[in-house]
Amino acid sequence: MSSRADDCILVIFGASGDLTRRKLLPAIYNLAETGLLPERFAIVGVARPSITEVDYRRQMRERVTDAEGEPLEPEKWTRIEERIHYLSGEFHEDQLYRSLGTRLSELGARYSIPPNYLFYFAIPPDLFPTVADRLAASGLASEGDGWRRVIVEKPFGYDLESAQALNARLTAGFRESQIYRIDHYLGKETVQNILAFRFANGIFEPIWNRRYVSHVQMTVAEEDGIGSRGAYYDKAGALRDIVQNHMFQLLTLVAMEPPISFRAEDVRDEKVKVLHAVPALTGDAIARDVVRAQYEGYRQEANVAPDSRTETFVAMRLTVDNWRWAGVPFYLRTGKKLARRDTHVAVQFKRAPFTLFRDTPVECTNPNVLVLRIQPDEAISLSFDAKVPGPLERLETVTMAFSYKDHFKLEPTTGYETLLFDAMTGDQTLFHRMDMVEAGWQIVEPVLRHWKRDTRTPVPGYPAGSMGPTEASVLLERDDRQWR
Ligand code: BG6
Repeated sequence: MSSRADDCILVIFGASGDLTRRKLLPAIYNLAETGLLPERFAIVGVARPSITEVDYRRQMRERVTDAEGEPLEPEKWTRIEERIHYLSGEFHEDQLYRSLGTRLSELGARYSIPPNYLFYFAIPPDLFPTVADRLAASGLASEGDGWRRVIVEKPFGYDLESAQALNARLTAGFRESQIYRIDHYLGKETVQNILAFRFANGIFEPIWNRRYVSHVQMTVAEEDGIGSRGAYYDKAGALRDIVQNHMFQLLTLVAMEPPISFRAEDVRDEKVKVLHAVPALTGDAIARDVVRAQYEGYRQEANVAPDSRTETFVAMRLTVDNWRWAGVPFYLRTGKKLARRDTHVAVQFKRAPFTLFRDTPVECTNPNVLVLRIQPDEAISLSFDAKVPGPLERLETVTMAFSYKDHFKLEPTTGYETLLFDAMTGDQTLFHRMDMVEAGWQIVEPVLRHWKRDTRTPVPGYPAGSMGPTEASVLLERDDRQWR
């Protein structure tokens, strides 16, 4: 990233919400720190509370300071704060959009900003169609004098049908090239680095296939429970909340073919092919290869049904049926209230033949494992067997590791910096294309339907602070493997 983003006005619907305070404004501040914010820029926060602009600015200053965990650099923050504006109103009322149009023209004239508008939907998903319709009806979605883009937060639909219905409402007013379906996982440096790691290094690609890889494991483990998000989470569950989006993004980056270029469409074409190659799971396979579970105490959480069967943990075995990956299982697991926060991908290679060690004290050789750790300690490591010093032939597994923090002195960021910057420059590479969203739903939907029908099989529980139910371990033990 070398130049600044396009001059524009960022309009945040849901300006008083958690996402704006904890992620979006801190990300804007971080972008300012790195000199990537547009030269001419303003923010319009739109929300229901009827507060003054002065109060809104003060609240945001406090929240961003909390999020940064240190005092803000006055020069940087003041420049942003002076450009933060606030508009209160009801999202379904046309009047709000008339006022917004007027405000945008005024601010454009005041700061000499061309009419490039980035609309961010940081609002509950049931409001997405309402706001999209009103923006289109008021003429604010039409390009001509400048660009108009919309960033849509997850969840994008509740299943395939609702995702398609939502898309139809969005595309009635916006073209696909104006729609940025965000997945904050793709803003994480370490997730983006999977592409660099695979395609900027000559030695990994030749072994990145079924001849050398025994299987791949992906873990997204969280220590926290659902907190205050019961109303949303109890309807969503882990399969929708994490697997269908974040984990499928990881899967596509690990399994995709090299794209012909890093242009958005070339990368997205290859990613979607991976999901198309995942065979849909049928009844028996779901019972065998998908594990769901709920943490103990989940049903007592606020806004959770006392008889809820919503899963807070999922483990599953998938395959990618194409030339590169046929026969290589991909095991995915995610859960809340687990022993530790840990997101990583482990690529386990096939063992070396044992032949040479037959007449030595060595009992077995261990497979090489490449671990791409995404959080919390961002790192890449490769394990291999080495000889223990001494006259006897003995082996021990050792690790070669690269840590982001140690090497790049990485400052923690929100992950939204890159995504906001990309949306301001018109780069859709890191955003979901609609066919990808559909392909994701097509994989999980048979599972969701199966679970919905099966109201009798108990949903296993697991103790908070564990690594999930025993059923998840059995899933791998059956294949003579263990979670890493
Ligand atoms: C969100 C999910 O998309 O991602 C949350 O809705 C989850 O349930 C969160 O906790 C995890 O994101 P991160 O960046 O904290 O790993």
